[in-house]
Amino acid sequence: MPYLRSQDDDVVALPHEIADITDAERLRRTIEDIKPRQIINLAAYTNVNRAEREFTLAHRVNAEGARNVAEIARQLNARLIHVSTNFVFAGDKGSPYVESDLPSPVNVYGKSKLAGEQAVYAAYPSSLILRVGWLFGPGGQNFVATILDRGLAYRVALQQQVALQPIRIVVDQRGVPTSTLDVAQAIGQLVSSDITGVLHLVPRGEAVDRFSLVTEIFEMAGMQVAIEPSFSSEFKSDAPRPKAAILGSERDSEPRIPILRNWREALRDYVDSEMQRRP
Ligand SMILES: NC(=O)c1ccc[n+]([C@@H]2O[C@H](COP(=O)([O-])OP(=O)(O)OC[C@H]3O[C@@H](n4cnc5c(N)ncnc54)[C@H](OP(=O)(O)O)[C@@H]3O)[C@@H](O)[C@H]2O)c1
Repeated sequence: MPYLRSQDDDVVALPHEIADITDAERLRRTIEDIKPRQIINLAAYTNVNRAEREFTLAHRVNAEGARNVAEIARQLNARLIHVSTNFVFAGDKGSPYVESDLPSPVNVYGKSKLAGEQAVYAAYPSSLILRVGWLFGPGGQNFVATILDRGLAYRVALQQQVALQPIRIVVDQRGVPTSTLDVAQAIGQLVSSDITGVLHLVPRGEAVDRFSLVTEIFEMAGMQVAIEPSFSSEFKSDAPRPKAAILGSERDSEPRIPILRNWREALRDYVDSEMQRRP
């Protein structure tokens, strides 16, 4: 079968081409064929800027697609973990958002993901909706990887004696950087638990603004790069972004809730491995 399978066939990863979550009937046949006991839905429309122009597509994937997955999971009596985002919040609370806070997204992406959460809950109330934010990790582009690439390009330009402007980084967006490896490990624990509802998966360590985060990334990478603080309003962006959609959790004392290590520890591991991979 053309699915990606783990060696012991415990995990079947379905790529977009095989399992389009907006095509309910084909998706149902594909999933019924596998007969999973657990389903983790990571499929999403994630282009925050483009979503402002592609409202219909963002909703089709993030709301209707999510509902399709939930309905199939319910029919198969499979446990469902649906991944969502800190972007369901406006980012103006002044302290971390906990699970009982009322979402109020400021852009189309956030609205479509919130509609997805509501559709999942309505279709299959015993699902687990997992909100995460500011992800970094191996196997794809992310903010930390982009900063390392920019630092390396800066270093090359410096060696070639090209005149350089400092890299401008915003100080007015705050979050908690979260390792996808740690999230994956936590999902591994949650999948065999009976925890339901909304859960914020957030590592230990205080929130940080992007400028301070970049300072730490360059320090960890041993790079000397000139950076300059700036503000979001100085950059052109199609989508408004929440300034501080920082997640916290009021559920972390419940039994069987995974504890994520401090984000700085995870970030250091990631920066080390990315620096070894780069020339
Ligand atoms: N990255 C973050 O910082 C962050 C933060 C908070 C929450 N999240 C959430 O985490 C989850 C994973 O995000 P990510 O960062 O890994 O995003 P990503 O890299 O864009 O991955 C999303 C995946 O979904 C696939 N997809 C898109 N439309 C689909 C469809 N109709 N049917 C099936 N698959 C489809 C995409 O395939 P194509 O590439 O072929 O379109 C892609 O493989 C999402 O729910 C996202 O909302 C991410």
